[in-house]
Amino acid sequence: MIRATTTDTRVSRQSYWGDDEFRLEMERIFRRCWLFVAHESEIAEPGDYVTRNLGGEDVIVTRDEQGEIRAFLNSCTHRGTQLCRADLGNSSHFRCSYHGWTFSNSGDLKGVPERKQVFEPSFDKSAFGLVRVPHVESFHGLVFASWNPGAPPLAEELGPAAWYLRGVLDKAGDLVALGPPARARVRTNWKLGSENFAGDGYHLATTHQSPIELGTYLNTEAFPQLEGVSMADMRGRCVVAGNGHAFRVQHYDLPGTEPMFFGYPPDRWQEMAEGLEPGQIDLMSRQSVFHGNIFPNLSLIDAASLSSGDDTPAVSYVQFRVWQPIDSMHSELMLWALVPRWYDDEQRAHSLRANLRMVGLAGIFDTDDLQNWTSVADMSRGSVARATDFVYEGGLSAPKDTEKTWPGDVYDIDHSETNQRELYRRWAELMNDETFASTGAGRRAAR
Ligand code: FES
Ligand SMILES: [Fe+2]
Repeated sequence: MIRATTTDTRVSRQSYWGDDEFRLEMERIFRRCWLFVAHESEIAEPGDYVTRNLGGEDVIVTRDEQGEIRAFLNSCTHRGTQLCRADLGNSSHFRCSYHGWTFSNSGDLKGVPERKQVFEPSFDKSAFGLVRVPHVESFHGLVFASWNPGAPPLAEELGPAAWYLRGVLDKAGDLVALGPPARARVRTNWKLGSENFAGDGYHLATTHQSPIELGTYLNTEAFPQLEGVSMADMRGRCVVAGNGHAFRVQHYDLPGTEPMFFGYPPDRWQEMAEGLEPGQIDLMSRQSVFHGNIFPNLSLIDAASLSSGDDTPAVSYVQFRVWQPIDSMHSELMLWALVPRWYDDEQRAHSLRANLRMVGLAGIFDTDDLQNWTSVADMSRGSVARATDFVYEGGLSAPKDTEKTWPGDVYDIDHSETNQRELYRRWAELMNDETFASTGAGRRAAR
């Protein structure tokens, strides 16, 4: 049975590891929601494409000859062969390996071998364009797609979360992806990653004790502007942004309003602040770590750290990651490292090193985290274990932060399960919505 309500502080373990529950999630969440598919810089030029998975279906995401971003089912409309086998590339057309039907990167069927000999004169090519993903939208460089013909506009779905995303995406101008995403198959359920990034400050001191001891966290040597400020002065806050989206920030209430973007060159701070609202400057320029999750499975972290040893400068790193569901017990983790377009080669190299070192596939944090998340999967195989619940009671009486002008509900608490409750509130809302039917979600490309 699927259960989790808006007031629940518990989620049944069966909801994570049950096959029926997984199928229902694919139907009611992943065929319905906006899902992240690519960063615009991955498909910057006409003809650029990447192949991705959208809610369990393989898709090609292209920038067509007119510069428009589109997404199609990666399956020939003749007899279903996989059309594009590469992860990325540039091509104006895709030719099927079976009988040779050829499609443009706008999804239209253009070429049919031996058309006159094999098919009737009435054969209508325009009826066999690729199955188009009905909605594709870009938000400040993040490309989202949805199989749901009735999907609300992306900005509406993001709600107050858009303000936080803009803080990350706009503060340093355009961001660019440093190559294609790193990918790894991991043995755990997608929700464990999403709920952790949504705001689990509680696990840091236990799970990540080693990086604390190694001094990779914020310290005054790396950030001279924090002279006299200690870790203890950091105030963690949890933000519930609605629609299942949530964030956590490690924030320093430093005096004054002068912008201080940790990990960016001080001579850029003023310029960086110009594109942001005052609240976004306060949030973004006084944080050492900002992370969150856009429901259902797009996580992000925006932080600063040393790039390797103590003698390297502190540098910013931004990572977006997707917890792609494979089945109830397995997910594919995809990681995108992003940097400001104006970073020179040396800054890019430092940022990438910090990114890989902290949150790369073999980074300090993911090594620690995955040990726990695979352990949860392993310990959830039996029916006795599955009959129990996971507990989300932390921070039930957390006070709202009334000083901050940040949108959504801002809680003046660091270690809380406020954000996980929001994620599962939305999850339960969609899982229990019997009115949503996803059949016919895709439609043929218009001629
Ligand atoms: S299956 Fe693609 S051309 Fe026949
Ligand atoms: Fe962690």
